[in-house]
Amino acid sequence: MRKLGWLGIALLVLAGLVWVYGGQMTAVAEEQAEVKTEVKAEAEAKKTEHGFIGASQCKMCHKSESKGAQFVKWEASAHAHAYKSLLTDQSKEIAKKMGIEEAPEAAAQCLKCHVTGHGAKAELLGPKYDQTEGVTCEGCHGAGADWKKVHKKDPAEAAKLGMVQPMDEKVCLTCHNEESPTYKPFKYAEKLAAIAHPIPKKAE
Ligand code: HEC
Ligand code: HEC
Ligand code: HEC
Ligand code: HEC
Repeated sequence: MRKLGWLGIALLVLAGLVWVYGGQMTAVAEEQAEVKTEVKAEAEAKKTEHGFIGASQCKMCHKSESKGAQFVKWEASAHAHAYKSLLTDQSKEIAKKMGIEEAPEAAAQCLKCHVTGHGAKAELLGPKYDQTEGVTCEGCHGAGADWKKVHKKDPAEAAKLGMVQPMDEKVCLTCHNEESPTYKPFKYAEKLAAIAHPIPKKAE
């Protein structure tokens, strides 16, 4: 032990610390990896076999004030402008810094989060699908071609046909994550309030 001296003891202590904290770090890393896997699965699930119909196909029933004006609220939100954001000088700057050669509005590295249905098979994009609508209703609620007709009456059947419900934070995290070049920490409750578009409760 004498030969080890102070340096040796210090190293032993350090090794001990690394062992203890290393264990904790692994647990944290595993937990994060687990969340990431779930988020990935969610992202995969969204690239469904169900067709995208476009936000215009939700408008007729979800725009009136008395029903909650979901379309109007969405149209005024950042999500409806997500494609247009790719046309700005700021976006060109971001893309350039990342070494992306195409224009941001043509680059998969940007479109994957700034529009709905990017990367889906062409036959899944309906006649009214329009990527310039940005992050549409279907970007969160799921590709609607198959559930649109049934969702009013039968939520369980709609879920089987690709409607995402109940909705939770994992849906948001498929885009609101560190892969975003302008990432800001995502506070779910706050962000949820910012996009809220509830159906008004009927007066009792
Ligand atoms: C033909 C009319 C119609 C169309 C088109 C329509 N909806 Fe609906 N939707 C309804 C009705 C009616 C309800 C039930 C409202 C209620 O409970 O007060 C509803 C309910 C919902 C709900 C709540 C479901 C639940 O179980 O809580 C969501 C989410 C929704 N619609 C999204 C959409 C989206 C997204 C689209 C377009 C892809 C769409 N709707 C198209 C009529 C429609
Ligand atoms: C398909 C990808 C995608 C999904 C899913 C998504 N977002 Fe977004 N969100 C975006 C993009 C892209 C922007 C930036 C739009 C812009 O300014 O061009 C954004 C912006 C926002 C903003 C305004 C900017 C900010 O950070 O305050 C809020 C609030 C927001 N999202 C909330 C949510 C919530 C809550 C969910 C889940 C219920 C969600 N988003 C799901 C892509 C997504
Ligand atoms: C950024 C994600 C996002 C987008 C985009 C989005 N929604 Fe929602 N929507 C939610 C969340 C989150 C809720 C509340 C949680 C839930 O009902 O599962 C919700 C709830 C709803 C509800 C039910 C409200 C209630 O009180 O039960 C309707 C109807 C609805 N959305 C329709 C739409 C329509 C129509 C569009 C497009 C015009 C749209 N949403 C776009 C995330 C989104
Ligand atoms: C992983 C998903 C994701 C990818 C990939 C992505 N974005 Fe975004 N983008 C977002 C989200 C979410 C926001 C809202 C702010 C944030 O990052 O939290 C956003 C916001 C923006 C904004 C508005 C910035 C602000 O401060 O309001 C611009 C501009 C933008 N993105 C450009 C781009 C460009 C250009 C690319 C491709 C090089 C890109 N984004 C790739 C998700 C993404």
